[in-house]
Amino acid sequence: MNAKLRVAVVGCGIGRQHIAAYRNLPDHYDVLAVCDVNVDKARAVARDAGVPRVSADLSELCAMSDLDVIDLCTPPGFHFAQILQVLAAGKHCICEKPLVGSLREVDELMVAEARAGKRMMPIFQYRFGHGLQKLKLLIDKGVAGRAYVSNIDLAWRRRAEYYAVPWRNSWETELGGTLTGHAIHALDMLMYAIGPVKNVFARAKTLVNPIRLEDCAAVSLEMADGSLATMSVTLGSAVEITRHRLCFSNLVAESNTRPYTNSHDPWTFTGDTPELQALIDQTLAGFDPQPERFEGQFLLFHKALQQGGEPPVTLSDARRAVEILTAMYKSARTNQDISLPLPKDEWYNGWRPTTGDGGTVAG
Ligand SMILES: NC(=O)c1ccc[n+]([C@@H]2O[C@H](COP(=O)([O-])OP(=O)(O)OC[C@H]3O[C@@H](n4cnc5c(N)ncnc54)[C@H](O)[C@@H]3O)[C@@H](O)[C@H]2O)c1
Repeated sequence: MNAKLRVAVVGCGIGRQHIAAYRNLPDHYDVLAVCDVNVDKARAVARDAGVPRVSADLSELCAMSDLDVIDLCTPPGFHFAQILQVLAAGKHCICEKPLVGSLREVDELMVAEARAGKRMMPIFQYRFGHGLQKLKLLIDKGVAGRAYVSNIDLAWRRRAEYYAVPWRNSWETELGGTLTGHAIHALDMLMYAIGPVKNVFARAKTLVNPIRLEDCAAVSLEMADGSLATMSVTLGSAVEITRHRLCFSNLVAESNTRPYTNSHDPWTFTGDTPELQALIDQTLAGFDPQPERFEGQFLLFHKALQQGGEPPVTLSDARRAVEILTAMYKSARTNQDISLPLPKDEWYNGWRPTTGDGGTVAG
């Protein structure tokens, strides 16, 4: 394999940010093609970014023998079939969140990935922010101590213009509401730091917008390590913030509150004693900053393919995310506390309503 990975990007919304990130890694990636069913959009993006090939059809990319990676930035309802198509064509695949809408689909992707002998990397770019990476260092070095309680506030603002895009506001094409589309990043950050969830109780409601999907939620979690966590989510906040606050036996970690970069610096880490503060400061003096967001994730993907290790985000991580989503929707609809791991019951097929488009309230 070439040292440089030759990549095509499919979908020209957030896909434009993916292209920019690849272009910031010129020793690692060449963007050879851009694809969108709206071919005029693809042409404009290709022209601006200097990408040589344009297509309106993923099948054409799959037939290009000189491509190593196809990166899917398409609406969520397409992801499952498109990932299978890319792996079957013998390409590595990268795909935006939410990856798919059921544990059954993730498990089928794991089988397809193994059969293809290629890698499938879901996107969770918030992981690579320096603030969260510093917390991870303090946890991994044993400085943070035992986790007690973590709190997440995700308060964003989404109104009619956001839902004007045709694939939104549909269980089939968007896969879910704010839990699936937004809170999943914040939950991945929590699980990345603290580990998996053991138990969940969730309430989800549609309070802000005239839509079928949930736009507010309150979630109570017990983590596998025995610590507790809460998450509140709304799309009706006039002031947008995302905040993580994690309390450990040795320190409290507090993120900044910028809604879309709260995993980046600055975070504060306050020790329980002056001695612990000195240890925190000494540990963080050894922090080695790496690229953040998509660039950080793509750089580590390249390294994994070259050196044979695991990608920085794997299908197992996506399975954990899909499992917590399934558990939250199950809890909200049945008013029950849900334990993980989930059994292979009817929820194994996902949380999308099986008839029609699910009524007006997500519940
Ligand atoms: N990681 C993040 O922070 C982040 C941020 C925004 C969006 N996303 C995710 O990225 C995905 C795309 O969202 P978006 O906001 O860019 O949407 P978008 O509607 O702005 O862009 C999607 C593009 O895909 C194109 N498209 C649709 N079907 C296609 C197909 N079959 N083949 C090729 N192109 C097709 C559309 O024409 C459109 O240009 C979603 O899964 C979304 O949740 C992730």
